[in-house]
Amino acid sequence: MKLTKIPQHIAIIMDGNGRWARKRHLPRVMGHQKGAETVRMVIETCVDLGIPYVTLYAFSQENWKRPKAEINFLMKLLDRYLDSELEAFKKEGIRFSTIGHVGVLPERTQLRLERMKQETKANRKLTVVLALNYGARQEILDAVQRFVSDLSRSNGAYSRRLKALNEKVFSQYLDTAAMPDPDLVIRTSGEMRLSNFLLWQSSYSEFHASKKLWPDFKKEDLLEAIREYGDRQRRFGALA
Ligand code: FPP
Repeated sequence: MKLTKIPQHIAIIMDGNGRWARKRHLPRVMGHQKGAETVRMVIETCVDLGIPYVTLYAFSQENWKRPKAEINFLMKLLDRYLDSELEAFKKEGIRFSTIGHVGVLPERTQLRLERMKQETKANRKLTVVLALNYGARQEILDAVQRFVSDLSRSNGAYSRRLKALNEKVFSQYLDTAAMPDPDLVIRTSGEMRLSNFLLWQSSYSEFHASKKLWPDFKKEDLLEAIREYGDRQRRFGALA
């Protein structure tokens, strides 16, 4: 497949694990387990194509409404994933990062996240960002709070700094501060919603909705999304 343009940042809403399992008369969590394999494929493909950033929506703020057993399974799956991938990330030159409020995740998960971040922080080939306990509106509110808190400490510069607030400055207060906005947002399972994911950052992102359920989303589906992205004409509101 010929890819004319490679996105610098792909963000993915991984949806359909539960339905994948139900279709097979399996417990929902088996869909999540299978979904972790798709995560591996996506990361490998990003490395192969030289895509520098990929963000994966792994657990939303709203996901706390799920049954406790499912939440526990997801956290354990994440622990196992982090344990099994640490060496591969180091070997492949992949940096690991998160967005969202990870401070309320189980202690053992937080320790693993911190270790993964620390041990991969110098890597630059690809940055993998997991959105965990993430909600975009919350992220924007957090950014406003940080900005106002900075302002309140800036004494004489208050009015100048307030006037200087623009999109670029504000972006630096978001969890994604050091990253480019996603060029391409992919959602699987046929749903057409952003579900509180990267609302600020995806203002001008191209959207690709795949009908495949996340565990069924294969390399050729990802390549097709990237190929289609390359064919789109991004005008950012201007004329062609
Ligand atoms: C949405 O499917 C998926 C999630 C809420 C969790 C995403 C988690 C994974 C892909 C597991 C592996 C990830 C890592 C990083 C180890 P759903 O349960 O909402 O599916 P449904 O809409 O069919 O019920």
